[in-house]
Amino acid sequence: MQELDRIWSMLRERNTVVPSIESLFDSDPQRGPRHTRQLGELRIDFSRHPLDDQSWSLLLQLAESRDLTQGIERLLAGDKVNISEGRAALHTALRSPSIAGRTGVSADIEAARARMYDFARALRSGTWQGATGESITDVVNIGIGGSDLGPRLVVQAMSGGDGPRLHFLSNIDGAAVHQITQSLNPATTLFCITSKSFGTRETLTNARTAAAWLGESLGLEQSQLAAHFVAVSANVQRATEFGIAPDRVLPMWDWVGGRYSLWSAVGFPIAVALGPDRFDQLLQGAELVDVHFGSTELTDNIPVLMGLLGIWHRNVAGIPGYCVVPYDERLTRLPNYLQQLDMESLGKSVDVSGQPLAQPSGTLCWGGTGTDGQHAFFQWLHQGTDPMPVEFIAARTPDHPHQEHHRQLLANLFGQATALMQGRSLEQTRAKLLDDGKSPQQAELLAPHSTFPGNRPSTIIMLERLTASALGSLLALYEHRVFVQSWVWNLNAYDQWGVELGKTLANRVEDQMQGDRSQPTEPSLTHWLDYVESGA
Ligand code: F6P
Repeated sequence: MQELDRIWSMLRERNTVVPSIESLFDSDPQRGPRHTRQLGELRIDFSRHPLDDQSWSLLLQLAESRDLTQGIERLLAGDKVNISEGRAALHTALRSPSIAGRTGVSADIEAARARMYDFARALRSGTWQGATGESITDVVNIGIGGSDLGPRLVVQAMSGGDGPRLHFLSNIDGAAVHQITQSLNPATTLFCITSKSFGTRETLTNARTAAAWLGESLGLEQSQLAAHFVAVSANVQRATEFGIAPDRVLPMWDWVGGRYSLWSAVGFPIAVALGPDRFDQLLQGAELVDVHFGSTELTDNIPVLMGLLGIWHRNVAGIPGYCVVPYDERLTRLPNYLQQLDMESLGKSVDVSGQPLAQPSGTLCWGGTGTDGQHAFFQWLHQGTDPMPVEFIAARTPDHPHQEHHRQLLANLFGQATALMQGRSLEQTRAKLLDDGKSPQQAELLAPHSTFPGNRPSTIIMLERLTASALGSLLALYEHRVFVQSWVWNLNAYDQWGVELGKTLANRVEDQMQGDRSQPTEPSLTHWLDYVESGA
């Protein structure tokens, strides 16, 4: 403990030593390449952060004194790192045959994947027919959180357009199911009900509404609609009780967390949209990062470096968030996906033994695509009172013929990273305004509004190209970063008790809205329930 306290206090001291990120480049022109690492199809540049070699070395000492290497080994060995639920977190076994073999889950994974691929092939080839004998043209995934965000992200990022059309229904808002069903032909639509627990209210309500719509539109009994449903669940019994034919339920297991589950049968929509071969490539990309994570010294271990950088910003610089900006329209959903991955995993206040955390933990993860974000929240990033690290993500080579667009896109990314780092002082701004022909009085008046504090950190992650394997690597990188931070903070990244209370209360309020006043209404809600009722 004393050793840890010593490192923390030295880290804090270090934070006061480096004058600016730019000064680090001034003293080391090779800083860019020196702090840029290649991992498979990803290139990651850590140079634009206010850390000199000594700061990095202290962060690595922190990792060592927390015995991170042992933590990584335990994660990959299938130890029950999710201690509050007594489970392993074996998402890596889903993409790494050697981890699956070592942890005894190969047979389950292979059997489930073979069935998932059979289903996907039948849907893609048109041999899967609905109740009226027509081939399926549209697949709707009904699921929420981890049963939605991963598949939705990958399908949107990779869509090849050569299989059935994919749709995603997550929100309980009836507008969502209404909008989706309006655009579909019931005879050629298949619903995939994805829910690890098969107990999630949103998903089950949407599934019932979808089933009723199918039955009514086709004039068929529910028992005649089996060909229009597939389920993915760790609770096969509940899925079959719900009415899904047992041979149409793809299994998953309690050792896969929802937000880590796109590699399991939860990825069924991905396999349908992309085909089994590209699903395999996604897995291979992730496996490459798993192998790196499990076998590389901490000093060169990229998810470890990313995690430690996050620790620096949170606990040393005191910044409670980071912003993810993909300069790639196909990755619009990435910030949403990472939000669940990071915030549901790390948004905890107690350590693994239930004691208050010694350090502030999980941060706000947010963002949006560039260049759109430049015309929205970048003002805040550049001139707001709070610095916030930015993670820029882009592909070096585009998959479209518009080279000029791509050049401009990347130029914008680099320009923003440089502007965040360099800023522009009051004197520089004044001089520029005078150069632009402003009078001295005007320059004096305007200069404070056009100065930029600079010294704002950012990371650039560049994919060679947005392939399935590169995307798999990128997502695995973020997963492992989350683990690194959880280990250093000594918290459980794999439970999510914080989502329960609101759900329980929503159920109670719903009962009250349906007229069951046996439970006392919350005094703070009585006027709202009366108001809603009066408009019903
Ligand atoms: O939001 C809570 C949560 O349990 C997430 O962790 C999970 O991904 C989501 O709900 C959906 O859960 P399920 O797959 O069990 O329907």
